This record gives sequence, C-alpha cells and structure tokens, in this order.
Amino acid sequence: MRIGIPAESRAAEARVAGTPETVKKLIALKQTVLVQHGAGAGAHIPDDAYANAGAMLVDAGEAYNADMVLKVRTPTDDELRRMKRGTVLVGMLDPYDVDQLARIRAAGLPSFALELMPRTTRAQSMDVLSSQANIAGYKAVLLAASLYPRFMPTLMTAAGTVKAARVLILGAGVAGLQAIATAKRLGAVIEASDVRPAVKEQIESLGAKFLDVPFETDDERDAGQGSGGYARPMPASWLARQAALVHERARLADIVITTALIPGRPAPTLIPADTLDAMKPGSVLVDLAAGRGPEIDGRRGGNCPLTEPDAVVTRHGVQIAGHTNLPAMVAADASALYARNVLDFVKLIIGPEGQLNIDTSDDIIAATLIGHEQSMQKTA
Ligand code: NAI
Repeated sequence: MRIGIPAESRAAEARVAGTPETVKKLIALKQTVLVQHGAGAGAHIPDDAYANAGAMLVDAGEAYNADMVLKVRTPTDDELRRMKRGTVLVGMLDPYDVDQLARIRAAGLPSFALELMPRTTRAQSMDVLSSQANIAGYKAVLLAASLYPRFMPTLMTAAGTVKAARVLILGAGVAGLQAIATAKRLGAVIEASDVRPAVKEQIESLGAKFLDVPFETDDERDAGQGSGGYARPMPASWLARQAALVHERARLADIVITTALIPGRPAPTLIPADTLDAMKPGSVLVDLAAGRGPEIDGRRGGNCPLTEPDAVVTRHGVQIAGHTNLPAMVAADASALYARNVLDFVKLIIGPEGQLNIDTSDDIIAATLIGHEQSMQKTA
C-alpha cells in the first residue's frame, strides 16, 4: 500500500503523524511511505531524515492520494477533498463532533478515530489521549511556572526565605498525574482532587495530598467508577460538595491546573467565577479543558467558564491560560510518541503480505472505526 504522511495544516499544529523511526518500520511491513515536503518541520525533523529512512518526499496532492493517510488532527474540508473515496484515514478525528463525523462519512473514507481507543492493556501502546495528555500535564506546569511571578520551591537565602508555591490540581488522570510529578520536581506543595477515589494512592505516591470528597449515595459511588476507563458526569449533590472544597483550596493556592474531561460531553465546571474571584492576585490558572467547557453565550470556556481558548487573560490579578494544544508546544517528543501509537495501530490493519486487513471482530478496530458501513450500522 501507499501510506501518506501529510503536513498538518491547522493553525499552530506542529506535530506530525510519522517519524523516520516509524517510517522505517512501515517500510519493513512492505509499505511505500509518501511524506509531504516539510511535514516534520514543526517537530524539527528535516526532509532528509525521512528520505534516509526510505520515504519518498512528495507534494501535498500525492501525500493525500494514497491508500492510507496518517494524520495528527482531523482533516479540514480542503484536506478531505484531496482524498479519494476508500482511502483509509487514521488520526485524532474528533469523533464526538457530529458535523465532522458526517463530513468524513460523506467523503467515503473508512476511518479510525484514535480517541475512541478502548482502555485495555492491549490498547495501551496505541492510546493517543494518554501519550498526549502526559505531555500536556508536563507543559501546563512549565507554563504556570513561567507566568507565576514567584519561585516554585522553598528557597533559603541570605535575604530571607521564600515559601514554596501551593499548587492545586483538579483531575488526576494522565495529565493531572504528570502535572503533580512535574510540580513536585520544581519543589511545589501540591493538593489534587479527582472523582475516582482509586487515584488517591497514585496522588499520594507522587508526594501530593489527596482532597477527598467522600461519596454519600450509591448513585455517586456508581458514577465515580466511570465507564470503560473514562470519567462519567457526577451527580449534582457530589459536585456541590466538591465545589465547596475546591473553593476553599483555590483561595489558598498560587497555581491551579484543571484537567477534568468527560469524553463526548462538555468538561465540568470546577472553577466558577466566584471561586476565581476568591483566588489571590498573582496566582495562575492553567485550564487544560480550554474550549471544551459548556457553551455559554456562544463561547466555550473550560473547567473555568472565564477561560479564553488560546489566550492568557487576567481577571482580578489572576492569569488564566487557555492554551488548547499544549502537546504541539512539545512537538518533537509529542510527535515521536504519537507516531509510535499510530504505528502500533496500523500494524493491526495490515496483513502479512502488507495488504489492508480490517478485521472488525477485533475490539480495538471495532471501537475506533468510523465512516465505514459497519460503523454506520453500529451508530445508526
Ligand atoms: P480524562 O482526560 O478523560 O480526564 C481527566 C481526569 O479528570 C480523570 O481522571 C477524571 O476522572 C477527572 N474528572 C472528571 N470529572 C471530574 C470532576 N468533576 N472533578 C475532578 N476530576 C474529574 O482522563 P484520562 O487522563 O485520559 O484517564 C483517566 C484514567 O484512565 C487514568 O488515570 C488511567 O488510570 C486510566 N487509563 C487507562 C488506560 C489503559 O488501561 N489502557 C490508558 C489511559 C488511561
């Protein structure tokens, strides 16, 4: 097969879906790999490195005119038009965006949305949300540290002692746990909260304090388990008790990092306006759910309704950072990890002779497949 790796065209998207390492491995699987000139530029991978790995360097038209196209971000309308019907598309395709799903289906592209990866041991090496969230959690702390007008660690100097920053992390999934580990390395004092009590031990093992909001009803206990490894919306009763605790802790915090997401739903509001207003001047909020919160007056914030997607805004002296694509700010490593996720997935749909082999009885293939007759029946 001919596998295309185009340059990503969305604004500020610096990642690429294949690296020289994964290109070599695709060629070993009897594939011809077409890489668009400059596709690796944002991740600092020169064309020569792809050529040395055995790829053909091509223009955009040829990269899309392939049997399979590997993407980071869901295609724009222009990119969709470049692909012929039947081209297999693999990438982060925004499967919960029904309009985009309809466009992909209308283009007749059997497609795999990697965000739908089941959370099983076998799927771990293909889990793009995890590989990218890990990077987002790390970068969120560095971003907070650069906006915060004080030191992170305790410092004892001849001119006096500086107190360590207090960091509050809401949502302790992959991004939140990495944020805890990174803030710890910088010497901060950390508290964290999550709906899943199972993360208490992980939070504590990283040296942070777990903010517990105990369940009071079976309903709350049930929702707190999540489903299939992903969080579910929590009942209003639990959210109200959590909000009161978060309000108290946010008032004392120097840095708040929110990472709470619920797949296919708006991100929960964890820092409402009154909590933000209670925060100290000079403190910083980094909202990893920016652009994914509930829609209010035609705009979407994040875990805080005042977050502006892709901007840093200041309210009452609190800086709110709403970057929507932190992994792209660490593009070299983000691409390396993403490309390995993609390669491991592509191996599942390539047969021994290098031919396309979509086995819909495989749980990973069935879960991620969209824009294909089988998946249309599944979601009809
Ligand atoms: P996510 O990015 O969907 O959500 C981030 C975190 O926010 C989650 O921990 C969630 O519980 C939390 N959250 C949601 N609503 C909240 C609220 N109201 N208040 C506070 N926190 C809230 O989750 P992520 O990071 O993708 O994964 C969650 C967990 O799934 C991981 O910690 C891991 O244990 C598991 N996982 C398992 C995998 C596997 O077995 N293959 C792969 C990746 C993750």
